[in-house]
Amino acid sequence: MAGTGVFAEIIDGEVYKYYADGEWKKSASGKSVSIINPTTRTPQYKVQACTQEEVNKVMDAAKAAQKLWARTPLWKRAEFLHKAAAILKEHKNPIAECLVKEIAKPAKDAVTEVVRSGDLVSYTAEDGVRILGEGKLLVSDSFPGNERSKYCLSSKVPLGVVLAIPPFNYPVNLAVSKIAPALIAGNALVLKPPTQGAVAALHMIHCFHLAGFPKGLISCVTGKGSEIGDFLTMHPGVNCISFTGGDTGIAISKKAGMIPLQMELGGKDACIVLEDADLDLVAANIVKGGYSYSGQRCTAVKVVLIMESVADAVVEKVKAKMAKLSIGPPEENCDITPVVSESSANFIEGLVMDAKQKGATFCQEYRREGNLIWPLLLDHVRPDMRIAWEEPFGPVLPVIRIGSVEEGVHHCNASNFGLQGCVFTRDINKAMMISDAMETGTVQINSAPARGPDHFPFQGLKDSGIGSQGITNSINMMTKIKSTVINLPSPSYTVG
Ligand code: G3H
Repeated sequence: MAGTGVFAEIIDGEVYKYYADGEWKKSASGKSVSIINPTTRTPQYKVQACTQEEVNKVMDAAKAAQKLWARTPLWKRAEFLHKAAAILKEHKNPIAECLVKEIAKPAKDAVTEVVRSGDLVSYTAEDGVRILGEGKLLVSDSFPGNERSKYCLSSKVPLGVVLAIPPFNYPVNLAVSKIAPALIAGNALVLKPPTQGAVAALHMIHCFHLAGFPKGLISCVTGKGSEIGDFLTMHPGVNCISFTGGDTGIAISKKAGMIPLQMELGGKDACIVLEDADLDLVAANIVKGGYSYSGQRCTAVKVVLIMESVADAVVEKVKAKMAKLSIGPPEENCDITPVVSESSANFIEGLVMDAKQKGATFCQEYRREGNLIWPLLLDHVRPDMRIAWEEPFGPVLPVIRIGSVEEGVHHCNASNFGLQGCVFTRDINKAMMISDAMETGTVQINSAPARGPDHFPFQGLKDSGIGSQGITNSINMMTKIKSTVINLPSPSYTVG
């Protein structure tokens, strides 16, 4: 159970502590932040409201710990990560319980998130050993005008302190996808978890604590964005920010200093369906892609662009599959669970009402109870409707009927987002041409968008972000190149 057993030390009374300098602490603020259970809409947990002074101390400790960590042999750093991964998996149930209560993630998916995270940490340790164990040797005489008298040895060294800010929808997985690459590369790590999901993240951090990482190397501060948000992202002690979330990322990128940024900020992933597609496969992927975790995934299918000639058939198939989705609490492992907050539900409702007013066809009746929104397919959506462009982050999916592939690609590329997209066709040549034309970081052929497997590159264009993620890319991004040049007094070939 959350907050008990090995996790008993991370809670004081009813408030979860924050993690700094290798210890679980209460904030001097004496204040806490409540986490509302999206299902019951009542307070579920409380976390510390950390102060700016506490953030300063965390940064100082991180800086000091990082210097020693960078000199810890790479194989040893990997060993720590493997240990943390094993502990994380061992305690998957209490962590998953937090995900169910804090973000209404269906129980089975919550367990999957923790197990996937353990696997991600182990894979990162292995990948890191390979990537960081290699360097490069350049010799000078390949550049015009040079003799063979300079040898340049370059390797990857850590950046310093990495600030990780994951989103509510994957507070464990999208935290470790930043933590593990940062640590294997020799960086220190400061985590600011999302408020919804903070308690799951604190449990996850405790697994790293139990693995025995050096004091101060990893910290986790909780609290109000208004008090410590900008303070953290603009802190001079931060050498890299890895953020996943919404528009806040754009604001962060404008305020952050001259440091590497890795940002993933949402999407309006289009699903383009051609006449020759396998329509059963299309329907299955629209339902899985559009409605899993109630549409609260940046990679969810967010607009279906379908050739008019097959639209009726696909819409009927999708409706039939949607009718089988279970709707209810996450504890019962329902497919559709309450969205994360009342404000989120209100936003989704605003998009639905706008579509209704402008004449979209409702394939089901719109229904909402509290934060629970029944899955809804909106057909005959037109570009003048907000839902054609905006990201609902909920179980509502628009269908736009198109007369040509060009029309579909044009709609996809007119979006301010460019995360992923997908195309369904049996013609691989057409699929490749459409993939090339779509202005998104990834295009899936004959499957719904998805980030994983976690070692695949993952990146967004335009307002969907900057930098590339995925295990290898994250390790590289959290390092810089350091060169040492050996200068010989005369060209090496003058000997012998
Ligand atoms: O919400 C954003 C995540 O990066 C999506 O990850 O495709 O594994 O659901 P996923």
